[in-house]
Amino acid sequence: MSNYRLGLECAQQLDQSDELSAYRNLFHIPKDKYGNELIYMTGNSLGLQPKATKGYINQELEDWANLGVEGHTEAKNPWLGYHEFLTESMSKLVGAKPIEVVVMNTLTTNLHLMMVSFYQPTKTRYKILIEADAFPSDKYAVESQLRHHGFDDKEGLVLWKPRQGEELARIEDLENILQVQGNEIALLMIGGVNYYTGQFFNLKRIAELGHTHGCMVGFDCAHGAGNVELNLHDSGADFAIWCTYKYLNSGPGSLAGCFVHERHAYNKNLNRFTGWWSHNKQTRFNMRHEFDVLPGAEGWQLSNPPILSMAAIKASLDIFNEVGIKKLVKKSKNLTGYFEFLLKELGEDIIRIITPNNPNERGCQLSIQVKNADKTLHKKLTAAGVISDWREPDVIRCAPVPLYNSFQDVYFLVEKLKEILN
Ligand SMILES: Cc1ncc(COP(=O)(O)O)c(C=O)c1O
Repeated sequence: MSNYRLGLECAQQLDQSDELSAYRNLFHIPKDKYGNELIYMTGNSLGLQPKATKGYINQELEDWANLGVEGHTEAKNPWLGYHEFLTESMSKLVGAKPIEVVVMNTLTTNLHLMMVSFYQPTKTRYKILIEADAFPSDKYAVESQLRHHGFDDKEGLVLWKPRQGEELARIEDLENILQVQGNEIALLMIGGVNYYTGQFFNLKRIAELGHTHGCMVGFDCAHGAGNVELNLHDSGADFAIWCTYKYLNSGPGSLAGCFVHERHAYNKNLNRFTGWWSHNKQTRFNMRHEFDVLPGAEGWQLSNPPILSMAAIKASLDIFNEVGIKKLVKKSKNLTGYFEFLLKELGEDIIRIITPNNPNERGCQLSIQVKNADKTLHKKLTAAGVISDWREPDVIRCAPVPLYNSFQDVYFLVEKLKEILN
């Protein structure tokens, strides 16, 4: 029996008893042309702007204006080591040790850098396994790595597919693939939370399986970071990458995170691409020293940090640090549970939720198939003030984000959907 009821009153009560409801006020909520707040359900695509972000960026602009190059050492937050201001909060958020995490580059760039180190194919073990509906950028990246190493990108790519007539990938099917081809697979590269279905995989189980078969294991956590408890260190994965513009609210195209498991932290023999920012901080500016790699994830940096983007990440992480991922996940389960309840009331013959119904196997996103719907349904929702996301061929993704979405947002979203369907 659920605690949810139909009607606005239930949503209002849920909002009243929500201990995180005040956090909505820390964000700019987009409005329509009449000044009414939109129902923003696309934090899984681009998170909203914290009101504090401008101040954090302005601080750096002012220091740049007033100090010029001296800002590298004299700015309020000295730029030389700016990425270090993000490390502790970011590592806490993804369940890692500080030495395992760095913020740098963008997601796909980091994926390539990780594959330079953790995709080391041999003549017999060279395949890469991804989930069948992996995010296209990941697929293109792994295909290009296969080609780069002289392999056929079709023959070398192993797809972990859902069964006929199903949307979700089953772990027993991954086990079967590994039983048969495990000794040919060099790398498992899986989206920790699948972007399309919202399925949150058991990272630890996948990493164990991969390692048992002698494969390296990496996760794309673009849809996981700030959304679910990733526990990256305990998962045992070799590496993970994620962006910060979705649930981490750091602005369009903002920098990405990267995790390298502690067991690789001091391995100087790993193949890697390097730059001056992966070099020992003590001797970096002597300029002529032989390359001396930094321990941990920092040893994969290439360039000096882009401060303005990092300032936006700092603004956001300061909020996450205050709330903590556990409280967020607790609210998220309640909010998405309520969303699921209302959708099911619309009739399971009309609405099909392809996201797992087990709250531990998903984050906040629900991917919804509406019977006989096409993109016009999404257009109508947008016209009605609901910002959701359409993915071909027939899925609407909605992500009630616990930091700034309310139970009433969810209620009104479903009301509008109901009106359109009627
Ligand atoms: C799951 C996933 N992987 C990779 C990317 C690509 O990210 P970027 O453009 O930052 O490299 C995205 C972008 O939305 C994504 O959702």
